[in-house]
Amino acid sequence: MPLLIKNGEIITADSRYRGDIYAEGETITRMGRDLETPPGCEVIDATGMYVFPGFIDPHVHIYLPFMATFAKDTHETASIAALVGGTTSYIEMCCPSRNEDALESYHLWKSKAEGNSACDYSFHMAVSKYTGETESQLREIVRDGISSFKIFLAYKNFFGIEDGELYQALALARKLGVIVTAHCENAELVAQLQQELLEAGKTGPEWHEPSRPESVEAEGTHHFATFLENTGAAGYVVHLSCEGALKAALAAKERGVRIWVEAVIPHLVLDKTYAERAGVEGMKHVMSPPLRDKRNQAVLFHALQAGLIDTVATDHCPFDTTQKLMGRGAFTQIPNGIPGIEERVNLLFTYGVQQGRLDLHRFVDAASTRAAKLFGLFPRKGTVAVGSDADLVVYDPAYRGTFTAARQHVNNDYNGFEGMAMKGRAAAVTVRGKIQARNGEFVGERGRGRLLKRAPSHF
Ligand code: URP
Ligand code: ZN
Ligand code: ZN
Repeated sequence: MPLLIKNGEIITADSRYRGDIYAEGETITRMGRDLETPPGCEVIDATGMYVFPGFIDPHVHIYLPFMATFAKDTHETASIAALVGGTTSYIEMCCPSRNEDALESYHLWKSKAEGNSACDYSFHMAVSKYTGETESQLREIVRDGISSFKIFLAYKNFFGIEDGELYQALALARKLGVIVTAHCENAELVAQLQQELLEAGKTGPEWHEPSRPESVEAEGTHHFATFLENTGAAGYVVHLSCEGALKAALAAKERGVRIWVEAVIPHLVLDKTYAERAGVEGMKHVMSPPLRDKRNQAVLFHALQAGLIDTVATDHCPFDTTQKLMGRGAFTQIPNGIPGIEERVNLLFTYGVQQGRLDLHRFVDAASTRAAKLFGLFPRKGTVAVGSDADLVVYDPAYRGTFTAARQHVNNDYNGFEGMAMKGRAAAVTVRGKIQARNGEFVGERGRGRLLKRAPSHF
């Protein structure tokens, strides 16, 4: 059924105007003032609302075997949560461990998502080792429409890659025009510090941050940037959390390295005192890089508003309280991750836009447009324009509520942002012209999501 969104304030990364949007056959076909309402058309009155392009989360984990357990969501639960929160596309990390075959893993991850996601999706392909067959396997995966890799400097012996392998992965990416996303923490330093802390009897979640201090992330970021510089590859630092790491990335950018930066919502709105809470309350807030000293939040928000941090993702990675308690005897056994796919857009709007730290255009750019541009989805996704997919978010800035596990759609028994105020919420969310969520509830078609094929663009 065609869709007409009337009289909204349409906000893109670089424009703002009042008007109507008409979508037919999955894409936006007309925009203008006072468009006629054709018979049989579904109409949304967006008076008093913003109309944003569908938001894109470029860093999520859904199927994830990790730290002796599995992340909790399915593609159905995660995509429904995403849509309710205004996210219409996500890019999942396909993460084989060093013991697993890359191509088999890619097919496994794809099969988990196929027919189960209610919104559109793609994958970043992790390169966790580099062997004789890696190049041909990665070429095949790129031919299948995956134009970004992922590497981990952290998680020694599991996802973590050695320097020689890193060089080879980046050299191949350079040839293929693929961008490489990277978790930048020095694995060796983390391992040494963890051991020292545990030997000293420091076992609680409050010791997670000291085991991976800011300097360890700054070193990892500098390390990755130096490898980019010497291979000429394009790189994207995921979940950058602190000033030292930001300085390392920006220094590299200044000397001409092709590097972009992602912040994630937990680092923007939570700080390390959450992980210092006693027992499981602290464990719920263990992720890597860790929640940091609060002074970093202002640094990250300033860089975000200035466009020096490019995107805001989630690093969505849900483990429930039973799983978190696997680490009751040692913080190194707490499954790392904080879910956020449902909360990201509303948190960024509430603590960014509503608090005057982020203007509306940068908000749209950081949460949608720039990810679309960096990862080969623009202008199909990431903007509101004739010819683009009709992925739209009719957003009510006057809504007032609270983030709580009691109303969430993610498959988890806690919410890392429990009790925080929500000022603004999606009133309607469409995927390729079909309404999939309204006012905090999923109202759409399960399994509607499609795999987004992306061509390499970083030559
Ligand atoms: O704590 C985190 N970030 N968990 C997910 C895995 C990763 O490092 O992205
Ligand atoms: Zn990571
Ligand atoms: Zn991650």
